[in-house]
Amino acid sequence: MLITNIGELTTGVDEAPLHDAAVLVEEGRIAWVGAEAQAPGADERIDAGGRAVIPGFVDSHSHLVFGGDRAAEFEARMAGEPYAAGGIRSTVAATRAASDDELRARLGGFIDELHAQGTTTVEIKSGYGLTVDDEERLVRLAAEVTDEVTFLGAHVVPAEYEGRAEEYVDLVCGPMLDACAPHCRWIDVFCETGAFTVAQSRRILETGMARGLAPRLHAAQLGPGDGVRMAVELGAASVDHGTFLSDDDVAALAGSDTVLTLLPGVEFSTRQPYPDARRLIDAGVTVALACDTNPGSSFTSSMAFCIAVAVREMGMTVTEAIRAATVGGAAALCRDDIGRIAPGARADLVLVDAPSAVHLAYRPGVPLIAAVWKDGRRVDS
Ligand code: NIG
Ligand code: FE
Repeated sequence: MLITNIGELTTGVDEAPLHDAAVLVEEGRIAWVGAEAQAPGADERIDAGGRAVIPGFVDSHSHLVFGGDRAAEFEARMAGEPYAAGGIRSTVAATRAASDDELRARLGGFIDELHAQGTTTVEIKSGYGLTVDDEERLVRLAAEVTDEVTFLGAHVVPAEYEGRAEEYVDLVCGPMLDACAPHCRWIDVFCETGAFTVAQSRRILETGMARGLAPRLHAAQLGPGDGVRMAVELGAASVDHGTFLSDDDVAALAGSDTVLTLLPGVEFSTRQPYPDARRLIDAGVTVALACDTNPGSSFTSSMAFCIAVAVREMGMTVTEAIRAATVGGAAALCRDDIGRIAPGARADLVLVDAPSAVHLAYRPGVPLIAAVWKDGRRVDS
């Protein structure tokens, strides 16, 4: 398949978008990118009609396996209530009450929703089960739809372990990890006041690492703390949220390979201050953008929405935001086969219904995703 008549091609490799370019896809991979005048022949030609083509979005942070929703909590928050980690427990109750088939059907619906909005790779965390059996089924269901599955048994201490956090950490590091590790690539902890301490988080990540899982961390979402530097020290692929970062955190991130994943949907939906992406990028930190789709703090699955908010509220240029949502997400997942349009990469492509990708931020809320290919196959319809 040869895509021609592309108005503007964002490759993720070249600094500036390419014009008069064409893309050849063969067997699910990008086979060639270059000037349309030099394009090789192909059985099938797709006329982009002068519209923009970008890499499929890489959404490196989501919690897509859950029951129920928390619309009432959101409504109360918009009327002045603060966000608190404790709301997670109500989703835990709804998730435990849901059957595998119910969770699978809901998850399938979310995957369709993501594809239709241009997301071709998604990371999915557990964390709304919090028993050995429930966490095992969440990671098992997630593994049915993505290779990027994260064990987040340490999301909060469940109600039945109230006052016995260390015993719960023992469970997470023992039987729960045993049951979940075979389905997972990653291990994560919600390191925050009201969830897990830095010492507990370190112990959980190190135990997971000893079992072959790679670390990532939720940190500095609700307040400052030492979690970011601990994660950098452990070589985490990504630290996520980073709403409250000290200068030391920024310096540690800048001197490391750890990506800082920004989640604008969270600040939007919890009325928290937006982190300053400009400060991070100028300091040399690699940033990613992700949706953090979950029923509590961010119930959007639109990467375009996150791009628009990051540009408007976090000081990112449009080019930086699109990059963070593609190459940045790939870096946060330690992947070089996705997030860019280059020979050898997976043919994960988005046709934007506009002459340039700038329109994704310029026309917020407007559905501009015209076609989506994952591994060279249409997935948006
Ligand atoms: O990434 N921060 C922790 N976990 C989720 C929120 C979960 C919830 O409120 O249900 C997050 O924001
Ligand atoms: Fe999260």
